[in-house]
Amino acid sequence: MTKILRTISELRAWRNALPAGARLGLVPTMGALHEGHISLMDLAHTHCDTVIASIFVNPLQFGPTEDLARYPRPIERDIALLEASGVDALFLPEPAEVYPADNSTYVIEEAVSLPLCGALRPGHFRGVATVVLKLFNLTQPHFAFFGQKDAQQCAVIERMVRDLNVPVEIVRGAIVREEDGLAMSSRNVYLEPAQRAIAPLLYQSLLAASEAYDAGERGAGKLEAIGRSILAREPGIAVQYWEVRDRSSLAPLETVGANGCLLALAAYLGNTRLIDNFILGA
Ligand code: PAJ
Repeated sequence: MTKILRTISELRAWRNALPAGARLGLVPTMGALHEGHISLMDLAHTHCDTVIASIFVNPLQFGPTEDLARYPRPIERDIALLEASGVDALFLPEPAEVYPADNSTYVIEEAVSLPLCGALRPGHFRGVATVVLKLFNLTQPHFAFFGQKDAQQCAVIERMVRDLNVPVEIVRGAIVREEDGLAMSSRNVYLEPAQRAIAPLLYQSLLAASEAYDAGERGAGKLEAIGRSILAREPGIAVQYWEVRDRSSLAPLETVGANGCLLALAAYLGNTRLIDNFILGA
């Protein structure tokens, strides 16, 4: 049975009752769970004795014009999925439980959170870093699991953990995709059929650059041009960025060196914003 913990005091009592040597893994989510999330629960079970998930649609990481109100919240279905994947506990708080009305302390990472999504979603990674550090302090896990789908989020959290000496080991899980290559996302449900039909082009643009890399291309500008050209043919896709970046610092590159690189993109299909990425030279 997945134990549902709605308050901080319930969570603390559950945490304190765990056996001293038990390795605890945390999988933070915003719910509307899909196979990408479940793969992180499975990964957590391979590292840990006890696994706790959280579902919290964190208001602090949504901009004023973003989809906080309409973000999907199929909570009964989510709980059934967590039960089926053997998750031991679910932290399911209300916003007022997480943020005091006069909350005034935030975590701001000032390098890897700046480019890409950070530049386009002001305050987003401040909201993510703040809530994730709070979840770490509340849960005190040994391991925490994050998806490579949100590569910049992983980089921000890893940097925060290093810089603030947070005693949690971060583990990245691979991107889970639909059969046609579209990266699974809670936001895919927003796509209308015509948008859903063209959405796999995002992954195809990453694969096209990857093929050029495999054929010897190392120029970042060339790889970006190849990826962007795939999406430029489709008027239903509005690219926000399509970039070749250093895998951990997310700094721009001129040429791809021995460390490989991250290909990262964000695009709008109608009102729905999707992201995807691919590691070259892994
Ligand atoms: P959410 O978007 O619900 O994602 C929760 C976790 O699932 C994240 O680590 C994300 O990278 C991972 N994930 C999403 N889609 C995936 C896919 N297709 N394959 C593999 N992993 C995938 O990310 C957040 O929530 C929030 O920002 C959060 C970290 C919970 C802080 O509020």
